[in-house]
Amino acid sequence: MAKILVTYDMFREGFEELVEKYDVTFPDGKDFSYEEVMSMIPEYDVLCSMFDFPVNKELMDHAINLKLVANYAVGYDNIDIPYAIEKGITVANTPDPVTAPTANLALALMLDAARRVTECDRHLRTEGKNMKIGVLENLGVGVTGQTLGIIGMGRIGQALAKRANACGMEVLYHNRRQLDLEAETRFGVEYVSFDELLDRSDFISLNAPHTPETYHLIGEEEFKKMKSSAILINTARGPLVDERALIKALKEGTIHAAGLDVFEFGDYPLPELLELENVVLTPHIGTQTEQTRVEMAKAVCDNVIGFLEDDRPVKRVTPFFKW
Ligand code: GLV
Repeated sequence: MAKILVTYDMFREGFEELVEKYDVTFPDGKDFSYEEVMSMIPEYDVLCSMFDFPVNKELMDHAINLKLVANYAVGYDNIDIPYAIEKGITVANTPDPVTAPTANLALALMLDAARRVTECDRHLRTEGKNMKIGVLENLGVGVTGQTLGIIGMGRIGQALAKRANACGMEVLYHNRRQLDLEAETRFGVEYVSFDELLDRSDFISLNAPHTPETYHLIGEEEFKKMKSSAILINTARGPLVDERALIKALKEGTIHAAGLDVFEFGDYPLPELLELENVVLTPHIGTQTEQTRVEMAKAVCDNVIGFLEDDRPVKRVTPFFKW
């Protein structure tokens, strides 16, 4: 019977079918460390990893029985994909349950940064009746009638476009490949070059994967090409943005504001970002709802069982190397 190792501590809802059928090891109360996984992995056929767990050459070389890495995430920049392919290890991800919650958070950050929701909340709590309130205080910027530029028009970008349409926004996008006309019409989006998007957008949302090509996609030069009223939203991966250049742009008014769910250097933003009023920060909560956690667990199970039993589709990002 296949042996399955789950690296992350998680409630069991969503994993029922896998646990019934297979020998599954979960950590107890705390994620397994890299060292713990290294010592256990030779015995396992399947690794269920979290988006921040490094599945690198060293680990794959050590994993003599490993056939499948089922990542609990749509992103898989934690996995050395070319090496997995070289070793004949299949890699799968969970795009479907991630789409709507991540697009919802991107919209939430847009609205929050534009209307200064958490900033006002912070001032009310800390200043109470000393907070200046009046019809010309705490002015935000409008959303309806404004232009959103989406960089990366995959599932999440498309879901965000639909939401932006509902808010009465004009939507531009840039992507490696242009969508066909039918899809562009359905999502109400216009394809433009990267520079045109930077130039015309009031809001810019990053919805592209983290790859060597997208590392520091947005840096000092790109901020200069944006409107000084632009609001940057990042719910994708931190390294897409040069965080030090972003801090400078926010401080100097090169752009107006930002909403960030991910940071360049791991779980936490650089301390200077915490000092700025014109940025809304959340700690990588794009999929952090109970419903999505369970749906992602089910998607991981479907990938593992589909791989082992060939009875359902597997959302894979490498060729399918047979079990
Ligand atoms: C979350 O960041 C994901 O990649 O699913």
